[in-house]
Amino acid sequence: MVYILGIESTCDESGICLLEGKEKKVRILANELRSQIKVHSPYGGIVPILAAREHKKNLPLLLENIKNFFDLKIIDYLAFSIGPGLLPALVEGKNFVQKLAKDLNKKIIPVNHLEAHFFSTFIKNKIGVWQKIKNIEFPSLVLVVSGGHTNLYFFKNPFEKKKLGSTLDDAAGESLDKAARALGLGYPGGPLIEKLAQKGQSIYYLPKPLLERGYNFSFSGLKTAFIDLIKELKETKGELSEEDKRNLAASFQKTLFETLIYKLKKAVNEFKPKSLIVTGGVIANKTLRKMIKFVFPKYKIYFPDISLSTDNGVNIAISAYFLLEKEEKILDYNNIEVFAREK
Ligand code: KG4
Ligand code: ZN
Repeated sequence: MVYILGIESTCDESGICLLEGKEKKVRILANELRSQIKVHSPYGGIVPILAAREHKKNLPLLLENIKNFFDLKIIDYLAFSIGPGLLPALVEGKNFVQKLAKDLNKKIIPVNHLEAHFFSTFIKNKIGVWQKIKNIEFPSLVLVVSGGHTNLYFFKNPFEKKKLGSTLDDAAGESLDKAARALGLGYPGGPLIEKLAQKGQSIYYLPKPLLERGYNFSFSGLKTAFIDLIKELKETKGELSEEDKRNLAASFQKTLFETLIYKLKKAVNEFKPKSLIVTGGVIANKTLRKMIKFVFPKYKIYFPDISLSTDNGVNIAISAYFLLEKEEKILDYNNIEVFAREK
């Protein structure tokens, strides 16, 4: 039996999970999550310094909640996200985990944030019950679509991967956040655009940059075309109606998702994987899930549970459970470094 405390502070979610594992089975004993949406929403995006302040406040409170039910002495390892992410936020997580590791005299398993999105697809977000870790078939094509990343990989097995492409500018989630801002909606944009788009029609043409060129993505041209379109509509009709907003949201979302799927399809044809994994905050979107299932009816497709799509402590803990196999990842509390950009 092994007990892992997974700590998340990459971006704007503070999370702590206590996970119990035995061979191919795990049990989530506690999953504490505090979103900072209300703090950042007025600014239309994440303010790093506020994110750090919130983590500093939230992480001890989340740990108190866990302490009410569990003795921290049972913990074998601490795990936390070391990046890529927002540096001030990651530093707060690091300070928190280092102090805890020192107090409890435990070692730390550092988890890469993108790795955490990948491993999140292996389990369900069920509290208090034993579950079998999914036996995902490899090789697999993996698309990570989040607020900070749009990466396509070929995974030979859970530990050996090759990056095929990534975004050259905005990430998929970032482009949804910017599109939402252009429509005068709040933050995060993805769920707000999804809601509007449900009642809208995709009637506007928007560009799909880099479509025919390799596996890299580019969404800044799409965002600029969207902002220009909004400006043009406002010039001709004054204010946008609710119907205009719904149609604009549906058009943006469809163009973005079709671009993602186009590249995925191209990679599927070239690499002929045994399964597809799509993960990260943007895959919380039900329309994107439906589109992917529709395009690849013969493939085994793995998504994280909707509630594990965006950042949380469970993803960190389950990643650490996998990484325990690789002992080189277990570090002393004074050997931890965080990083903002993907290495
Ligand atoms: O993985 P995540 O929580 O944080 C990063 O690693 O960046 O992803 C956050 C991103 C945001 O851009 C947010 O707008 C997007 O995921 N997102 C969604 C949905 N829920 C969150 N995008 C589309 N549809 C959603 N339902
Ligand atoms: Zn993330």
